[in-house]
Amino acid sequence: EQIEKGGYEHFMLKEIYEQPSAIQDTFRGRLLANEAIIKMAGIEDNMKKFLNADRIIVVACGTSWHAGLVSEYIFEDLARIPVEVEYASEFRYRNPIITEKDIVIAISQSGETADTLAAIKLAKSKGAFVFGVCNVVGSSIARESDAGAYTHAGPEIGVASTKAFTTQITVLTLMALRLARAKGTISSSDFRHHLIELELIPEKVKKALESDAYVKTIAEIYKDAKNCLYLGRGFNFPVALEGALKLKEISYIHAEGYPAAEMKHGPIALIDEQMPVIVIATKKGHYEKVVSNIQEIKSRKGKIIGIVTEGDESVKGLADHVIEVPESSEFLTPLLTTIPLQLLSYHIAVKLGKNVDQPRNLAKSVTVE
Ligand code: AGP
Repeated sequence: EQIEKGGYEHFMLKEIYEQPSAIQDTFRGRLLANEAIIKMAGIEDNMKKFLNADRIIVVACGTSWHAGLVSEYIFEDLARIPVEVEYASEFRYRNPIITEKDIVIAISQSGETADTLAAIKLAKSKGAFVFGVCNVVGSSIARESDAGAYTHAGPEIGVASTKAFTTQITVLTLMALRLARAKGTISSSDFRHHLIELELIPEKVKKALESDAYVKTIAEIYKDAKNCLYLGRGFNFPVALEGALKLKEISYIHAEGYPAAEMKHGPIALIDEQMPVIVIATKKGHYEKVVSNIQEIKSRKGKIIGIVTEGDESVKGLADHVIEVPESSEFLTPLLTTIPLQLLSYHIAVKLGKNVDQPRNLAKSVTVE
């Protein structure tokens, strides 16, 4: 096991650090930025279906559901296809409306999650086309899907999903860009620009990982918190949900993720000097609005940890701590902002002496309903 951990203390940390190369592996053979081409067999072979689809329905659970939520923002923004993101466990039991013009994207690291598998069987029985985004090759969901794309993240051992999440977002982003180009919803120069930006992501993730030592010092300060709030807007709202889930599952600290603007509709009542609030406040993503959310937290004496774009000054002036990530196109920021949140939950859990790789009550793949 020590050998498999490759010198890291835990599988989770190893997998966090593998993300630059895992994303590179997801690109391999698909992203040809210099030639301005995205090649994805599962899309090319079924292009007509994708172009004629009325909508995409994403079904998934847990972290994979969060990746689906990020993809909703990306598909709608770039490819202008309506997207609905469903918890597989809700979708399958509520007699959903599914037609032959729907494309169901099932996202699953393990490819064995019982509810997701059942949801795609239901969708297929109603005539929908099912596209699987899985990590485990030959898994049940991969086999049951009509077509698909593997994430190629490599084995993920830590129960808390990390590299599976970022590689899922990477596959879904490639899909959205390919479809946007085919539909003509983005110009060829924008397409070219996006591919170049995408190709830079592994290097930027590497840069984001450099915050590790600083994040560890923040973990020391907040490890005894009883509650934490995570806020983000737009593309980064699902990252807030994912950050909260990571903290809950490995440190057993209660955490909630919220769209930042929803704070004033309830959660703001929780804020006092005991409450750490992690706010994703990267430039471009409704930045000014997030800054005003931060002011609201500050005036209620909440402790603010800002995830900001390199060189940011405004949030620095307000927050108790800021963690910088490299600048990038807005739709790609979730691949960067998620890194310090993974590290924060990891270090808090380690400091609390928790079993990081195998948290209590959790299984790596949930094969029961
Ligand atoms: C993530 O950290 C969780 N352990 C969990 O939410 C997981 O993402 C979920 O069970 C879905 O698993 P899957 O991707 O293998 O389908």
